[in-house]
Amino acid sequence: MTIDEVTRPALHLDRRAYQPLLEEFDYRVDEIEGQLPKDLTGTLYRIGPGKHQVGRTLLHNVFDGDGMVSQFTLDGSSVRFRNRYVRTKHFNHGLTSNRIKYRGVGTQIPGGPLANFLRLPGNVANTNVIQHDGELLALWEMGKPHRLHPDTLDTLGEYDFDGRLGYLGAFSAHPKWDPDTGEMYNFGLDLLPSPRIRTYKVDTLGKLHPLASVPMLDLVWTHDFALTKRYMVFVLDPLVANIPKLALGTHSIIDSLDFKSGKATRFLLVPRDGGTPRIVEHAALLHFHVTNAYDDGDDVVIDLVRFDSRWRDIRASAGEINMNDADPFTAPASTLMRYRIGAAGRVTEQPLVTQSVEFPQYDWRLSTREHRYTYLAGQADTDGPHNAIVKVDHHTDAITTCRLGASAVGEPLFIPRTPDAAEDDGWLLAVNHQLEEHRSQLIIFDARDIERGPMATAWLSHHIPWGFHGTFTHRVAVAGSPIPLPDELPAL
Ligand SMILES: [Fe+2]
Repeated sequence: MTIDEVTRPALHLDRRAYQPLLEEFDYRVDEIEGQLPKDLTGTLYRIGPGKHQVGRTLLHNVFDGDGMVSQFTLDGSSVRFRNRYVRTKHFNHGLTSNRIKYRGVGTQIPGGPLANFLRLPGNVANTNVIQHDGELLALWEMGKPHRLHPDTLDTLGEYDFDGRLGYLGAFSAHPKWDPDTGEMYNFGLDLLPSPRIRTYKVDTLGKLHPLASVPMLDLVWTHDFALTKRYMVFVLDPLVANIPKLALGTHSIIDSLDFKSGKATRFLLVPRDGGTPRIVEHAALLHFHVTNAYDDGDDVVIDLVRFDSRWRDIRASAGEINMNDADPFTAPASTLMRYRIGAAGRVTEQPLVTQSVEFPQYDWRLSTREHRYTYLAGQADTDGPHNAIVKVDHHTDAITTCRLGASAVGEPLFIPRTPDAAEDDGWLLAVNHQLEEHRSQLIIFDARDIERGPMATAWLSHHIPWGFHGTFTHRVAVAGSPIPLPDELPAL
């Protein structure tokens, strides 16, 4: 019996993007179209929720699926694929039980408010994977990172930077690096013991140093931030938690967040040198992801993807996993925006791309500096949550698009051709789920010419469920022995 036969008699093509992948693979990819660039060697890691279920019990929120890492190893002439679930407590529990034991972001423990009262969500390690100290860290913003082996993807345990994280261990999924110093900056949105944004710097030896801790008593939720030479820049939308709903357990975490359009979005500038944080208010906006930020004289400039859809619609669509499977999926409307925060507290805004886009990326060697090009996953006119790669030249305002057909394409990562290559002189790597084939492919573009389509396409023999973020390293992962059939995974 398969999960399809049980629950999805009439699956819309879009909804294939959220189908689970219940096997763990390790194989050489044989089906390659085009020519792999021989100079592109290294390992691409991607992560996202691989399954939304606890045993046989289906979950319904996209944020609550178990984190699964996909590894693409490129040696210049071949591609090897491996995937592995992060062995979190949540994942391990689902191997032997059909009972929802942990509260999720959008999932409540059955049993009403009493079952959820003061319960924090279980860590599903599904949002980003980064390199740290010779290992990988699977990140999930409300709890500790999980350490992974960079070759085998085995889970090595939770990680708290020698006990230096806050009480809950919150460590956001969107750290940033200063390319001049090699330092990593990040934050944790800590609910307990008192709500605050804790900011951190991780030095090049891997040691974490707490920076400012900013009380956030109104409990706004924020997912990402940006780094300039002077500041950690937070964009605090009025996405405010209803504290009684949250604490009493009457609503899930995501259902206790309300967008207060009459309140301001606050740009919070936290000086990297330890100075007093500064807040500049602006009209309410809603976003998840920033691109980059930089200082321009006394001004601070930050790019982000602003959602134009209503919060309640975005929230509702996030809760449609394993539901409404006969209906098409509509990606939120959005605009790539630029905000300039003046020294006197005036904010100006400029739309950069008005077609629906998400997952903004750029050449990370330009973190903290002005970047010329932005690469995004976009929405074109066919099926799929995102079905195009979009590139923006901020000098000419030229927007180029590569349409991928009925697809669910993920965040495009830019890899420079050489360490000294010019901006845009390199490759774009993305994982694309071709919905009609119901198989995923690694697509590799010449970043300077995405309209020509991928220069190489490596077809997997299966799909990868829609995911979030990832990283590329020039270290070529060492191939392990094939993983035995996953008899640990629950039969469905
Ligand atoms: Fe994210």
